[in-house]
Amino acid sequence: MSQPEKIESLLKEERSFPPPAKFAAAAHVRSMDEYEALYKQSIEDPCAFWASVAEQNFRWFRMWDRTLDWQLPHARWFVGAQTNLCFNCVDRHVERGLGDKTAILFEGEPGDVRRLSFRELQTEVCKFANVLKSLGVKKGDRVTIYMPMTPELAIACLACARIGAPHSVIFGGFSVQAIVDRVEDAQSHVVITSDGGWRRGKVVPLKENVDQAAAQCALIKTVVVHRRIGERMESGAAPLVDGRDHWWHELMAAESAECPPEKCDAEDMLFLLYTSGSTGKPKGILHTTAGYMVYTATTAKYIFDLKPDDIFWCTADIGWITGHSYVIYGILANGVTTVMYEGAPNHPDWERFWALIERHKVTKFYTAPTAIRAFMREGRQHADKHDLSSLKLLGTVGEPINPEAWMWYHEVVGRGRCPIVDTWWQTETGGILISPIPGATPTKPGTATRPFFGIEPAVMSKDGTVLPPNAGGLLCIKKPWPGMLRGIWRDPERFVRQYWSEIDDVYFAGDSARMDADGYFWIMGRVDDVIKVSGHRLGTMEVESAIVAHPAVAEAAVVGVPHEIKGNAIAAFVTLTADRIGDIASHDGLAKLREELMQHVTHALGAVARPDQIRFTQSLPKTRSGKIMRRLLREIAGGGQVKGDTTTLEDFSVLAKLAEKDE
Ligand code: PRX
Repeated sequence: MSQPEKIESLLKEERSFPPPAKFAAAAHVRSMDEYEALYKQSIEDPCAFWASVAEQNFRWFRMWDRTLDWQLPHARWFVGAQTNLCFNCVDRHVERGLGDKTAILFEGEPGDVRRLSFRELQTEVCKFANVLKSLGVKKGDRVTIYMPMTPELAIACLACARIGAPHSVIFGGFSVQAIVDRVEDAQSHVVITSDGGWRRGKVVPLKENVDQAAAQCALIKTVVVHRRIGERMESGAAPLVDGRDHWWHELMAAESAECPPEKCDAEDMLFLLYTSGSTGKPKGILHTTAGYMVYTATTAKYIFDLKPDDIFWCTADIGWITGHSYVIYGILANGVTTVMYEGAPNHPDWERFWALIERHKVTKFYTAPTAIRAFMREGRQHADKHDLSSLKLLGTVGEPINPEAWMWYHEVVGRGRCPIVDTWWQTETGGILISPIPGATPTKPGTATRPFFGIEPAVMSKDGTVLPPNAGGLLCIKKPWPGMLRGIWRDPERFVRQYWSEIDDVYFAGDSARMDADGYFWIMGRVDDVIKVSGHRLGTMEVESAIVAHPAVAEAAVVGVPHEIKGNAIAAFVTLTADRIGDIASHDGLAKLREELMQHVTHALGAVARPDQIRFTQSLPKTRSGKIMRRLLREIAGGGQVKGDTTTLEDFSVLAKLAEKDE
């Protein structure tokens, strides 16, 4: 990890919003006293707390012998128990008489709407679980899923969970190289995809990307293709490959709707989800069955104050942890209707989200600050046109929310009536760790407030000292919790090094924060080489590796720079190979190469990783010991784009000399 630069918090926020009285009166937790009492219990005796939660709300095929086995840094929860997450998300509700209730409410970008009841979902999931089995997938085999946000994506995940085959979902916005890397790391032979997905009226060529990945990666033996676009697909695009590819609907037609759920061990691997860290290759974060189930369901219940008649909409893609935990598992485990929307927030116009909330009477809405800022820029008139009176609660996740965006969300979307939960967590944490409890916690714009039950956070210095209120430091978690990651796939050493070695004996995953005098946590951002672009987590090294793979590039350094809508944008500094320097001698040549590099990154990683700025430099500014001076690059990039491209090749050597003292 790079040394955190001096951590200083400049944000001063005095506004405070108590939970609306009407909301609090009907909430699961109705006052701060109640929260404090439950929190105290959960910290003083976490095993008793989690055992009591787990006993009440889930179906177990075998009860646990011990609630927790903690051999720092390895935790095992509900040791000896057997359960099945798919059963708990689907069958249990059918058995409870909720078979006809809508489980998934889907709206496609073109406007097509589908509702799947819990019973229909059970049928589809069982059939697809049988499809997987017929393709030779066994318990423990990793299945790669690369699909648009359609019900089949959730069905594929649930079917994997049903048979105990861990899924590895790849975000549909990622591209070929991302698929190759993840399939290879997971050693996965089966890929589930779609012919395409809709995004801003265009087809995202998912199957074509899988074909290109398969051409580079012999591991891919079987591809199942769901027909999403169908006849509107360009004819001849990505035809099925004989012996390797199968249509989803043809396989499904042959299968029965009976598939008993696998009795999974509490610590059986549930899924891998790749996320960026400070090396070039993303790491496979490993989550297991029972702890993840209990934690996501319980956080969802209390933080979103879930009630049986809720229509819950989390706008995250299932390709990210937010979608895993709060589109699928945490919500369905509570028997609540979950909304899935396929497309872009601004297609066909900036009213789409608000129209969707009005149309489907969404009650709880969970989105990212970057989306809120984009809506804010477009003006409130789009939201004002719609009846948003069904909304009861709003949530945010993925990056710090600036108080202006928080206030806009509160006034324009929540109409001043809805509590906002600003939820802090990570791929690694499985579920939310810090958040208001909406009927209890007074909120302040810009803070995720207090820890969830069982979570003991602390702001620490590098030597492990707990810092006093208002001092900025590293945000650590002192005790294990059920939803925590169990490891990094095939890299146990990295797990220890990455999360448990920065400060002895506590979990640290890269954020800085301060705690105020009320015990509220204010997240300040990452201190490692991870950049949050529109809430998406990207590693600087990953983007650098993609750029360097271009034949014209000798070396590249990538930094994050503040961006009004995206939170951060990517700026890349590039040195060219000697034989290609001539390419940028002219204005046109420079513009052409810059565009080519941008395309190159988009092709390798996906549009999310496309740099906003690419600057060509004679050499990268480095310290005498050879470390790239990222802080200097951030300052240069923050100063804006070079004017008029006249300085074709920039030279930062003088600046580097001046800056060397401070690095
Ligand atoms: O920097 C924090 C930021 O997102 C990081 C985790 O990213 P990822 O694993 O992709 O998971 C995102 C969704 C859970 C964190 O280390 N982050 C997440 N939520 C917040 C946040 N930063 C500030 N406030 C939040 N509410």
